[in-house]
Formats: sequence, C-alpha cells, structure tokens
Amino acid sequence: MNIDSKNSKGPWRIFGNHSLQTMKIGPAVLSHRVFLAPMAGITDYPFRCIARSCGAGPVVSEMIASQALIRNSARSVRMVSTAEKEFPLAVQISGSDPFVMTEAALINESLGAAIIDINMGCPQRKIVKTGAGANLMRDEVLAGRVIESIVKAVDIPVTVKIRLGWDHKSINAVRIAKIAQDSGASLVTVHGRTRSQMFSGKADWSAIRKVKEAVSIPVIANGDIKSPKDAGLCLEVSKADGIMIGRGALGRPWLFDQILHFLETGKDKRPPGLEEQYAIITRHLEHIVDFYGPPLGLRLFRKHLAWHTKGLHGSSLFRKSLNNAKLLNEVRDLLECFYGALAAKQVTPGRLPLLRAMPDSDRA
Ligand SMILES: Cc1cc2nc3c(=O)[nH]c(=O)nc-3n(C[C@H](O)[C@H](O)[C@H](O)COP(=O)(O)O)c2cc1C
Repeated sequence: MNIDSKNSKGPWRIFGNHSLQTMKIGPAVLSHRVFLAPMAGITDYPFRCIARSCGAGPVVSEMIASQALIRNSARSVRMVSTAEKEFPLAVQISGSDPFVMTEAALINESLGAAIIDINMGCPQRKIVKTGAGANLMRDEVLAGRVIESIVKAVDIPVTVKIRLGWDHKSINAVRIAKIAQDSGASLVTVHGRTRSQMFSGKADWSAIRKVKEAVSIPVIANGDIKSPKDAGLCLEVSKADGIMIGRGALGRPWLFDQILHFLETGKDKRPPGLEEQYAIITRHLEHIVDFYGPPLGLRLFRKHLAWHTKGLHGSSLFRKSLNNAKLLNEVRDLLECFYGALAAKQVTPGRLPLLRAMPDSDRA
C-alpha cells in the first residue's frame, strides 16, 4: 500500500518534525492529520459533517458490530451512511471472528467506506465478553488473522485502533502494532490507556512513542487531547504522525479548527462567538433531523446541546425546557431565544426571555 507523506509545507509548520499535512493511505488522501475519533452513539453522519465543517480531517464512524451488519440490521446499515463531502470515511467494525469481520468489511466497502478500521480498543464488558474490542489484543494470533483476512479481501486500506494492552501487566501495543503492520494494516491508532483503565487515569503519550518507534506505518496518538496545547504536547511526546480527538470535541467541534491554527502558527485562536456557535448548532439540528426524522433526531440532538450549553448562563433551565419540546419548531425557537438572549447580554438572572416564556412550575 502506498503511504506517502509530505512534510515540506502547509499546516503544522511549527511541528514540522511530526509529519505535516496530507497523508496518503492507499488511494485515500487525508487532508490533514487531526482525526475525529470513533464514538459510539456520537460520531454519526450528522456529527461527522459538523466536525468536518469545523476543521476535522479524517473522520471515523461509530463502531459497527460485524455480526449485526452481516445480518443486515437496518441500524447498522444506516451507521455506514456517508456522502462525498466526508470522503474518505473510515468505517469501524468490531468483532472477533475473521470470517464475519471480513464479510462485514466487504459490505462496508460496497456501501462506500474508504477505509476499514478494526476496533481493538473497546473496553465495554458487553463487547469484550464476546472476544471483541480490547479483548482481541489478548489473542495476538487471532488479532493477526482478523487483520490479514480483511486486508486480503478488500481493496481499500485497513487500519487498526488499539489501546496499550489489557492491563498494566500485559502491555502489548508494540507487539500488536507490529502484527498489524505485518498483516498489511496501513495505520494504527493508539489510545494511551489499558483496557482496565477504561477512561480513568491519564493517557500515556510516551507509551505511544514506543509504538511509533517500532513500526514504519503511520501511528496516530489518541487520548486526553482537549486543547490546542494538549495537541502540540501530545505530538511532541508521542512523535506520532497525527492525533485523534474524541471527547474534547463534544460540544466544541471548533476545537479542530483551533488545533490546526495552533499547530500552524503557535498562536491560540479564540472559540467562535455565540452567533457562530448558534449557526453551527442549528446546522447540526437540521442535519440530525434530516437524517433521523424529527422524533429520534430531536431526542439525539438533546445530548449534543447539553454539551454545547454546559456552563452557559441559564443552561440547566434551558435544557429542562428543551426536554419538553416535541416539535422541531419549538426547539428552533428555544435555541434562538437562548442564544439570542446570551448574545444580547440579557443574562441577568431571571431575565432571559426564555424564563419569561416558561411556566412557573418549570423554573428551577
Ligand atoms: C461515548 C464514547 C464512545 C466511544 N466509542 C468508541 C467506538 O465506537 N470505537 C472506538 O474505537 N473507540 C470509541 N471510544 C473511544 C474513543 O475513540 C477514544 O479512543 C477515547 O475517548 C480517548 O480519546 P479522547 O480522550 O480524545 O476522548 C468511545 C469513547 C466515548 C467517550
């Protein structure tokens, strides 16, 4: 597979040693190397579109269970939905049976995936008890068979997302990355935690560096990158070829743009003003409702809005009123009212138009 990186110009100027700008993985050209992490229940098509419009480079779908996909579950097929504007989409699959995983990879390829990503990092009990997710890292032979079988079957690049190992006594990220490389994988992403850590503690970026030093395929560092400075530090410490952002982008998709700006110039970029944030959020609302239809779309939108409005004046009350809104127009009106009031600095407690519109019983 052809992997070609150009480090001579473009973004990432100040981090020139850490691989800048585009990366070519087989036929897939990645515009830059700040990835959106796969997050189940979050990185659906609407969210990926928003993240892309806010500067994310490559995006990865939610994890799709290979068994469910080959049973043709409508939900799984919908999770693969993509469009040209988010090309090249990496679709992530989970499972542990090489045959089932390979079938699922072929289906994803036929549905438009540009890259197949294999999940070897999910720590959830219901996933690991089937031998999938992080549990695959415990069976290195099987892990190699899964990767090799998929690589042989599909014509698109295959990547692997791993953790450092199962627990601190069984760190094997370097071995798994070498197995991935030898089995034909084009890239490996490392979340700098073990499975037993789940999401606790701190991601170990220096452990990712050991993986980077052991393989020649690109290594993407992941875990706890929540600010542009984190991004720079993670690249410094890990020497990775790129970074992947998950939770840091929740409610702040513009973090991608801020990170790119920082890596390019060394300077901070302010987050967008409330008006621009409102425009991004309403765009997300329209995408999500278009994609899922109003009842489900509105329900899913609430959790994004909770992240967006966290810490803003009057937000808990706003979210409460939003929970009662059943119609798209009601949600639009509430949003306009909330952000309009904030932007106009009408934020004296108890004086938001939103509050006046609500019955006394709803007031906190
Ligand atoms: C809600 C949630 C869902 C996730 N789902 C997936 C998933 O489907 N596949 C996967 O490989 N990782 C998944 N992850 C892990 C993230 O991709 C990432 O590795 C982890 O959150 C660490 O990165 P961060 O600190 O930037 O969030 C998920 C994480 C969260 C918080």
